[in-house]
Amino acid sequence: MSAPARTQVAIVGGGPAGLMLAHLLRLRGVDSVVLEARPRERVETRQRAGILEHGTVDALREVGADARMDELGLPHDGFELRFSGRSVRVDMQALTGHNVMIWAQTEVTKDLIALRLDQGEPLLFEAEVLEVSDVETDSPSVRYRHGGTEHVLHADVVVGADGSYGPARRAIPEHLVRRFERVYPYSWLGILADVAPSSHELIYARGRTGFALASMRSPTVTRAYIQVPNGTDAADWADDAIWDELSARFALDDGSFTLARGPITDKSVTPMRSMVCEPMRHGRLFLAGDAAHIVPPTGAKGLNLAVADVRVLAEALGEWFATKDERLVDAYSDTALRRVWRASHFSWTMTTMLHVDPDGDPFDEQLALSHLRHIGTSESARRALAENYRGLALGAV
Ligand code: DHB
Repeated sequence: MSAPARTQVAIVGGGPAGLMLAHLLRLRGVDSVVLEARPRERVETRQRAGILEHGTVDALREVGADARMDELGLPHDGFELRFSGRSVRVDMQALTGHNVMIWAQTEVTKDLIALRLDQGEPLLFEAEVLEVSDVETDSPSVRYRHGGTEHVLHADVVVGADGSYGPARRAIPEHLVRRFERVYPYSWLGILADVAPSSHELIYARGRTGFALASMRSPTVTRAYIQVPNGTDAADWADDAIWDELSARFALDDGSFTLARGPITDKSVTPMRSMVCEPMRHGRLFLAGDAAHIVPPTGAKGLNLAVADVRVLAEALGEWFATKDERLVDAYSDTALRRVWRASHFSWTMTTMLHVDPDGDPFDEQLALSHLRHIGTSESARRALAENYRGLALGAV
């Protein structure tokens, strides 16, 4: 497919943020072109988190990418925390009236791509953006390479949804950008295994030697993670060593938990960092998703934040194209950043409470354990955690 030379919204990046935005804009009568640098197969197979807040589920329903999610996704009413050999259940449904959906980002992306292509709307893979220009004028453009030639796409608005290393953000002059960053002193080793999950809900554990998470992709596929030192090579971990470490970190003092083992089909290491880039708009350029902010994976907020950004942005751009009213586009950055900081704080809380900091001291450890015990004993502490986990309403941050 070749792209038209002009569109209303040029979207740089065909991950969940860019694709969801294209769909939401189409429902509001706004045209867009999506340019994605990677091949389709790579976008569709990149392993990321797997928990959808109800707002994200609503967005998938609104655009009509919900059929496979409803058939195969797993609604979860609660999750478990483990520490000091014991377990605390957080009953999200009872505490907040909402649940979450276990449905992998890879599946969300596949459905958004298929829908876009079925509609015959422009979505180009292997379209490498070289430069975003003239964002301070009312006719910005995107220069990109596709099929061996260079092209220029003119637009009314450009959206950078091209991840934290993408080119769009560079169109904002460096002196206007404030970057906030935190690098965590550990990473996650993640596995996929062909074995039924050992628990019907997710388990977040603070073991003596570090964090572990038991998650799932389906009733027959386990997804699990362990905290490992930064710089770890996944190939250095034998399968048995991974299972031994997972078992030790999930162990309960009463001996009632056994972790089922099976063939490991995928292993990878994810570094952990937080980054927020302010503002999320400069002139006619708007940033969304990882292009503007990164959260560590604990609590699975990355995809949900990206979708929350583009819901706000689609509403704002829809209004602006329809009426020229600029109030919502002018408010976009501040509105989105309020949620970004809430999720950044929540992700930091979950991360520091559940990981063992190799550079930390016994004081840090006692604070983390006290926090976990407080969640165990106080319903209001559990409710605060559950509200953040299942996602706050768009106006409630
Ligand atoms: C998964 C990842 C997370 O970061 C999380 O908090 C929960 C689940 C996952 O990949 O399944």
